[in-house]
Formats: sequence, structure tokens, C-alpha cells
Amino acid sequence: MLAFIGGTGLTRLEGFEILNEKLVDTPYGQPSAAVLEVGHSEHPQRSAFFLARHGHPHGIAPHAVNYRANIWALKEMGATAVIGVNAVGSVDPSLHPTDLVLPDQLIDYTWGRASTFSTDSAVEHIDFSWPYTASLIEQIVSAAKSSGIQVRQGGVYAATQGPRLETAAEIRRLANDGCTLVGMTGMPEAALAREAGLEYASLCLVVNPAAGVKAEGAPDREITMADIEQAVLDGMSNVRQLIATLVGE
Ligand code: HPA
Repeated sequence: MLAFIGGTGLTRLEGFEILNEKLVDTPYGQPSAAVLEVGHSEHPQRSAFFLARHGHPHGIAPHAVNYRANIWALKEMGATAVIGVNAVGSVDPSLHPTDLVLPDQLIDYTWGRASTFSTDSAVEHIDFSWPYTASLIEQIVSAAKSSGIQVRQGGVYAATQGPRLETAAEIRRLANDGCTLVGMTGMPEAALAREAGLEYASLCLVVNPAAGVKAEGAPDREITMADIEQAVLDGMSNVRQLIATLVGE
């Protein structure tokens, strides 16, 4: 069964009915919110899980999210595949706010986060060469095609610590490293999903050109929360439509 972890701008799935709601207790403490089982009126016999990464209402900073509890809770509820929805800045100047991207690689620049289910004495070295599940990406691409929604396939997600945005030099470094997107919540979520044996993909919504990046044809300007919020508002309806299609498949 499919689960969605909603990021900034997606703390509730409007248009979906909540069929069940469970606050799961985990060995790592409480997840960000109750796990919702949701259904869509267009597909009454199908359901999926939904969890608000930053809590509902939005209140948990990226570095303070209990990623282990979130993944554990979804696994315990019976999820087999997780799609993380992430608001991101674009490092690649050919990307624009409201674009949707499915990265196929990531680089982890976060630090100090509880990032594994392994313990000091029980270690599992997961293969993480390809951090996102190719078949799940294909499923999203095909749902996007059938919904007439454009998604770009491929990209390198830079997971930064936040909560501040980056300096222009930091973004230049990420670009030199080969990153095309930057966000604060992609890790350790992806690695924990792999450790838990869950399929995982990240659906990224571009909400701003990253620091110092001038999107092609756009003026050079400071990143404001107002611009980010507008892009979230403009882009999230496609994300919701895509989720509805995926739930119905
Ligand atoms: N940097 C890091 N995380 C982000 C950004 C950004 O520019 N935009 C949205 N999440």
C-alpha cells in the first residue's frame, strides 16, 4: 500500500476523505502527526496513507522532524511504498517555480540527524547506490502522463541542514557537486525507507530558484517567503491531482 509524506504546503490532502486516523507509538517516539488512511471520491475502493512531515498544523522544522518515527509508523501501518513530497529550491537554472521533478540521485549535506535504525552493535550497511526506487518513479511518471501533468525525470537532490536557506557560494558548491535541486527534508528519510525495506521516491515541487541562481528569463532577486508560498499554492494542485491518480491506480 502506498503512503505519502506531505511536506511544506501539503499538511492535509484536500479532496480526500479521512477513512482512519492513527497516532502510532514507535520505539523512536511520536511521528510528526497521526497517520491518516485517505480515500478519494473518484476511486472509492482504493486508499493510501498520508503523514504530514512537519506536523498538522505545520510546526516542526526540517532538522527537528522525527524521521525514524515517521518511517517506522508508516511501515507498521502496512505501507510498502512511500512517496515523499518535497518543496525544493532549483540549483539548475533551467528549472522554474511550480516545476515538478523526480530526482534519481541525492547528496546528503545534513548533520546531527538521527539517520539510521542501526544501533552501535547491530549494523546494516544498506545498498544506497540508487536511493530512489526506479519502479516507483516509473509509476509516478505514468500517473503524470495519464493526468496530463508535466514532471521532469532525473536530477540530484541536495539535502541541506537548514533551517536557514543557503548562501550563494554554498549553492555554487552544490552545483559544482552536480546537484540540481536543494531541500532540507530529503534525508535521512530516503535512507530510513531503504533500511525499512520500503520503496521510496521523492516528488519535488520547485518553489524558488536557490540562492544566487537566476532562473532563465527571470529577474535576479532575493528569496522571499511570499514568493515561496505563492509557488507552493500554484504548484500543489498538480501534486494533489497526481496523488489522486496514483491512489486510484
Ligand atoms: N534551499 C533549501 N531548501 C529549500 C529551498 C532552498 O532554496 N527552497 C525550498 N526548500
